[in-house]
Amino acid sequence: MAVTETDVLAALRPIVDPDFGKSIVELGFVKGIAIEGPRVAFTIELTTPACPVKAEFQRAAEERVRALPGVAEVAVTMTANTRGRAVGPQQALLPGVRNTLAVASGKGGVGKSTTAINIALALRERGASVGLMDADVYGPSLPLLTGVRGRPDAVEKRIIPLEGYGLKLMSMGFFVGEDSPVIWRGPMVHGLISQFLKDVEWGELDYLVIDLPPGTGDAALTLTQMAPLSGAVIVTTANDLSLIDARKGLRMFEKVSVPVLGIVENMSFFVPPDLPDRRYYIFGEGGGRRVAQEIGVDFLGEVPLDPRVVEGGDKGRPILVHAPDSDAARVFRDISGKVARKLAVLAEQAPRAADASITWVAS
Ligand SMILES: Nc1ncnc2c1ncn2[C@@H]1O[C@H](COP(=O)(O)OP(=O)(O)O)[C@@H](O)[C@H]1O
Ligand SMILES: [Mg+2]
Repeated sequence: MAVTETDVLAALRPIVDPDFGKSIVELGFVKGIAIEGPRVAFTIELTTPACPVKAEFQRAAEERVRALPGVAEVAVTMTANTRGRAVGPQQALLPGVRNTLAVASGKGGVGKSTTAINIALALRERGASVGLMDADVYGPSLPLLTGVRGRPDAVEKRIIPLEGYGLKLMSMGFFVGEDSPVIWRGPMVHGLISQFLKDVEWGELDYLVIDLPPGTGDAALTLTQMAPLSGAVIVTTANDLSLIDARKGLRMFEKVSVPVLGIVENMSFFVPPDLPDRRYYIFGEGGGRRVAQEIGVDFLGEVPLDPRVVEGGDKGRPILVHAPDSDAARVFRDISGKVARKLAVLAEQAPRAADASITWVAS
């Protein structure tokens, strides 16, 4: 007997998306079922291309449908239609951007910019369209981190972002010399951030990652008040785990109703290259997790201390590019997957008013 669409859907129904706690069939992820004799083809459309269980879904779907009597061949195409989140009245500022992710820290030097760029790259790697806005007006580091330099063009009063590693990039560092100290007064910071949000042609993006100024001072505050943020990540280091800073950060985002997706502990431990089984927690273990627990947010991961981060950083090669198989790169990928899923779940709870239906074929 020939297989039917109903049979295929029944076979797929037991596959449950752990984030939504529902079947992928019920969620409407299964699309375009085509049956030709013993050959079955269909598409699974996820809510983010950065879904960490993508391969698992694909394998399970293939297996289940192939097990149906009368089926000889199964082709599963994985795609994503990135969900975006309603983010208040400022949403109109970045009409083509589906999700904005703020990367914040209590202090400078903890690896905020490193985390921001590697999360951006990991999302890009999975097939998402991604921009990175270096809003750290006091210490713009994007030119150094990416090796991308030059002055962005303006077309019809719109500033065109530069590109590097497949990301759209914008930084104050593209406009001022890297050696000249940047001294901004409050109103100037306000103006600059407003320009980065209003006058830059970001185009259609699944994610805009924003490297925030450190701390909870004027510059950071301005951004959280002006930018339509979907979520935030707070970066800390193991040797500087300040509960007070973390709380301040959390409060800053709470004030503008931006969910803090979690805490990243950077430079957590060291693995000597000649002793790959050892992990030295030089500054103590589990501190970031405790801080996360105390302030009531999720813990997203521990990034190891790796000299290649510094080495690559100085050459404009982020660790995801410089040492893609390193543990540090792996952790950044894992964190980006968690972030993407959290944003997708938030979006599902409060979808954007006008959600365009563009789909990306996931790589
Ligand atoms: N996991 C890591 N291992 C080793 N060095 C790191 C790591 N994360 C960041 N660094 C280095 O620490 C310094 C500060 O990082 P950066 O991302 O510029 O911090 P921030 O943006 O918070 O000021 C840089 O030299 C960077 O290369
Ligand atoms: Mg920085």
